[in-house]
Formats: sequence, structure tokens, C-alpha cells
Amino acid sequence: MKSQIIGIGSCVPDKVVTNADMEQWMDTSDEWIQSRSGIKERHWVSEGESASDLAESASRKAIEMAGIQAEEIDLVIVGTITSDYFFPGISAQLQDKLGLGTVGAFDIKAACSAFIYALSIGDQFIRAGTAETVLVVGAEVQSTALNISDEGRDTAVLFGDGAGAAVLKASKGERGILSTHLHCQGKHLKLLWCEEPGSNHHPRMTEDLLKEARHYPMMNGREVFKNAVTRFPEVIQEAMDANQLSIDDVALIIPHQANLRISQAVAKRMGVSMDKVYSNIHKYGNTTAASIPIALCEALEEGEFSEGDTLIFAAFGAGFTWASAAVKW
Ligand code: ACO
Repeated sequence: MKSQIIGIGSCVPDKVVTNADMEQWMDTSDEWIQSRSGIKERHWVSEGESASDLAESASRKAIEMAGIQAEEIDLVIVGTITSDYFFPGISAQLQDKLGLGTVGAFDIKAACSAFIYALSIGDQFIRAGTAETVLVVGAEVQSTALNISDEGRDTAVLFGDGAGAAVLKASKGERGILSTHLHCQGKHLKLLWCEEPGSNHHPRMTEDLLKEARHYPMMNGREVFKNAVTRFPEVIQEAMDANQLSIDDVALIIPHQANLRISQAVAKRMGVSMDKVYSNIHKYGNTTAASIPIALCEALEEGEFSEGDTLIFAAFGAGFTWASAAVKW
């Protein structure tokens, strides 16, 4: 038994924030942002728009492409670190918005690797025969978490909002998820993290914590870069080895859209051309758990792959976590 991806969908907010907008708000430049990250613009939510709204829209498109009734879904898994509420998870909201009655729903907080983590869990449920149709989503609203000032410029320019979804269906055919590999190295967690509001304070948020800016994401960019350019190739190779594939058997690598320079370094280390490594970060920035399903939707629309092609999804992010999935489309 395999899990076949029978429908995908994505959604980004209408509001476009350009690098020129960033120049108005902090000491940065279009040249610095593009040369360090490849990003030209990103989409950010407007007041009243939330991650669960984006997740709902992406999910409805995926369900439509799958040609199923929403009621056929028997499990919902959402990858996000930016749920609308501190608790419960966004999956409960999405399950309700889609009218899914009482089916199970839970969140996965594995940051940029969360879509692959969620895909892997959905795949295990299907292989075990516990579920037949699983909705897997990556959804993020990073913009409301950013420090939009000179102090936060190293992270604020990188992130965007969006959501992507996939419907997995049990299938006995050739097509589907071939393998998934998940990794984490928690000893590095403070190199890319957001400390507050955490449960280790009472109360969880105070004036002092706000003044110390401990509610904003913090990143050691150099360490993230160094680890990412090692872990991406490793986990892509792991996917190929598990399926006895060479790079020539792979039609397209769809990496988490962390940073164009990271993707270029990964391509170089693996000896593959950037034609084989999908990139759309220039339009969306880094949308964390949403970036792979958004890229998958665009690559399909652009005719970058077709039925029977082998794809590899790969991610690296906070935790540090990293992961890959090999998929026969
Ligand atoms: N605009 C202008 N200058 C900036 C900005 C900005 N937005 N942000 C930081 N700088 C400044 C710094 O203050 C520093 O100035 P200083 O030298 O006066 O102290 C200078 O730029 C550092 O520039 P570089 O020498 O280019 O630094 P570095 O080579 O370390 O590059 C960068 C920094 C781009 C963050 C790099 O480390 C990187 O690409 N890291 C990867 C991080 C990343 O992409 N994370 C994605 C999110 S995590 C994920 O998805 C896995």
C-alpha cells in the first residue's frame, strides 16, 4: 500500500511586500536582500486574515483537484509554527472550517521541515491501514512575528506568509510516496528559535520579556547556512539511496525555499544544475512549512514535471530539523 498525492493546492495573501517597502521600514536595500537571499517580494496577511484562512483556501483547492468530497478525509495534519492561537492547534480550526465532523486533527511544529514530517506521518497512517484519505497542510503567518525594524532586519526581510495542501489517498499502484526520512539535532535549537511566550515563565509574557524582544525569532544566519548546505545534500542522497536512484532518475528536487544561496550551494555540492532544483523564493520569501507545497503547485502549473516523474522534497529548518521525501508523481 502506498499514499498517492491526488490533489494539491496553495494560497498566499493578496498583499505584496516588496524590498522597496522594506527599505522604508529599516536600514536595508533591495541589493542586499536579493544578493543574500534571492528574495524580491513576499506576501503578507492583512489585518483580519489568518493562517487558518490560508490553510482553508489551499485545502479546498487540493480537495477540488483530488476530485473527492471533503467528508472522505479521515485525518488532518497541519505543519505550522504560527497557529492562530497559542492553543489549540490550527488543525482544529481547519477541521471545523472544512466541516469535517469529528475526524482526527493535529499540528506538527517542526518548522521548515514540518510539511515533510506531516507527509511522512500521513503516509504511515495510510500504510498501516488506519486511514485512507489524509489532508496534509503547511500553513504560516510569519509576518506578524517579525521585528520590522533595524534590530530585526536579518530575519524580517526573509519571511513570507502562505499555505499549501496535499490530499493523500491509499493506492496499490506505482505512483505515490516512495520513502520519507526525518532528522533532528536539538542541540542546535537556539541557533534558530523564538523563545517566548514559553511555558517556563509565569506569566508567560511580561513587559520585561517584550522589552528584551524575546518574542521575536532569532537566527544565527551563518550557522543556519553552514548546517543547511550539509544537511540538504545528505538527506536528498538518503532518499536516492533508499530507492536505488541516481540523480539522473530524479526529475526535480523541490527544496524548502529557505534562501536562494542555500539552494545554489546545495546544487553545487550535489553537482546538479539549478534547472533540477526548483526555486520560487523571489516571489514569496521563506514561508516555512508552506514553502514546499506552494513550490510543488507552481512547478506542476509550469509543467516542470509530469505523471511518472520522480520528485524529491527536502527541507532544513529550526530544531534543527531536516527531512526528505521521494515521490513518484
Ligand atoms: N539589510 C542590510 N544589512 C543587513 C541586513 C539587512 N536586511 N541583515 C543583516 N545585515 C548586516 C548585518 O548587520 C551585518 O552587518 P555588520 O557587518 O555591520 O555587522 C552584515 O549585514 C552581515 O552581512 P554578511 O557579511 O553578508 O553576513 P553573512 O555572510 O553572515 O550573511 C546571511 C548573512 C545572509 C543571513 C547569511 O548568513 C545567510 O544567508 N544565512 C542563511 C539564513 C537563512 O536564509 N535563513 C532562512 C531561514 S531558516 C530556514 O529556512 C532554514
